[in-house]
Amino acid sequence: MSRADKTWRIGVAGLGTVGGGLLRFLADEPAFAPAGGRAEVVGVSAKSRSRKRDVDISQLAWFDDPVALAASAEIDIFVELIGGSDGPAKAAVETALKHGKPVVTANKALIAEHGRELAALAEVQGVPLLFEAAVMGGVPAVKIVREALVGEDLISIAGILNGTCNYILTEMERAGRDFADVLAEAQRLGYAEADPTMDIGGFDAAHKITILAALAFGGAPDYAAAEIEGLDQIELQDIRLAHDLGYRIKLVASAERIDGGVSVRVHPALAPLDHPLAQANGALNALFIEGRRIGRIFVQGPGAGAGPTAAAVAADIADVMAGAVRPVFQKPAADIQLAPGLAGSQHLRRAYVRLLVRDEPGVIAAVSETLAEENVSIDSFLQKPVHDAGGVPIVLTTHATPEPLLQRAIDRIGALPQVLQPPRMIRIARV
Ligand SMILES: NC(=O)c1ccc[n+]([C@@H]2O[C@H](COP(=O)([O-])OP(=O)(O)OC[C@H]3O[C@@H](n4cnc5c(N)ncnc54)[C@H](OP(=O)(O)O)[C@@H]3O)[C@@H](O)[C@H]2O)c1
Repeated sequence: MSRADKTWRIGVAGLGTVGGGLLRFLADEPAFAPAGGRAEVVGVSAKSRSRKRDVDISQLAWFDDPVALAASAEIDIFVELIGGSDGPAKAAVETALKHGKPVVTANKALIAEHGRELAALAEVQGVPLLFEAAVMGGVPAVKIVREALVGEDLISIAGILNGTCNYILTEMERAGRDFADVLAEAQRLGYAEADPTMDIGGFDAAHKITILAALAFGGAPDYAAAEIEGLDQIELQDIRLAHDLGYRIKLVASAERIDGGVSVRVHPALAPLDHPLAQANGALNALFIEGRRIGRIFVQGPGAGAGPTAAAVAADIADVMAGAVRPVFQKPAADIQLAPGLAGSQHLRRAYVRLLVRDEPGVIAAVSETLAEENVSIDSFLQKPVHDAGGVPIVLTTHATPEPLLQRAIDRIGALPQVLQPPRMIRIARV
């Protein structure tokens, strides 16, 4: 039977936001695959069979155990939409691959933490393992890096990869509200999980940038090497002060190649107000990709949500139906290595530093001298005429400085008797 006539029997494990979205997509778009053929969901698995769902699963085979669905001879493609780096998601994906079934997943934690071994399993069986929906939901970031730019000499990737954090930062600025307040509201509205640690701790964005780094630089995903700083330290006053200086704070995930090593980081960063990263607001995701020949590419769009994410999962299913098989991480699994990490001294950054100091003469001189002694030069200085907790807030920005020098200078400033609180340092994005 030709591909154009084949009915591909799909098993879907996980019927939540994305799984439900996929079932609706396939019901609405029966002829979505350009190579022809039909994709038909035949079996499903979720945690609770009795849960009321807004998709009809009464005609589909039910599996209490997603591993049994993955092993079933009744399916041709296994779609994993449960989530989590380990547990049932990993067991089911491994089982499907071992049974020679193509796998499509939206699970960034699984791919970032176990991508290398799963790629090896897929390769042994000669089946695809696809994860477009794992990064930036509806924005085809994986396809751009893995396929469209496969021949390009990529230098860096940086962007906003977590919509929840972006929503919180946008709301803090728009409504002048504190972090905890906006987070609680986001949880009430369903924009943030009941346990928001993965999002606001920066871990979700780190999973995504780890995957893009592996695809961009031809290595294995190395989540353990990612440097991760979340949003939890960001205060409303930083958002306001950054704005006064012409910047907006974003949670920026970046991967760059420097001297043969690869740096993968997530941290809050200041982006100039007129820069596209600063203008990607609300739950939007945005990404810059920089290459030697292409210069810079910018993409922006919905990083989550049932519709956009289901469309990305469906695109992967269409690729399987078309017969696409390529190495999961650009090279045969045996050849992909972890990239060497980078020493902090190789990171050259500008920074925003907020201090709360005693309202007395000589303070600014003491701060400036300490910075000068550590070879950190000041770019701008802002002193606000506000008295807070018995002190005066001052903010300075620095010129580009190797990070260890910057950190040492900040530690020394924090120890000055005139400085009343630990200094708050936020990097300025390299944009
Ligand atoms: N939500 C998004 O916009 C989005 C975007 C991009 C990527 N993703 C990724 O897509 C995946 C799914 O996310 P989601 O938001 O759809 O999650 P979700 O709404 O929490 O749904 C999870 C689904 O997994 C099922 N499940 C949990 N434990 C299970 C088990 N042991 N066996 C079988 N099924 C089990 C749940 O069953 P019950 O329904 O019975 O509870 C539920 O249907 C995650 O990897 C996530 O990171 C999500």
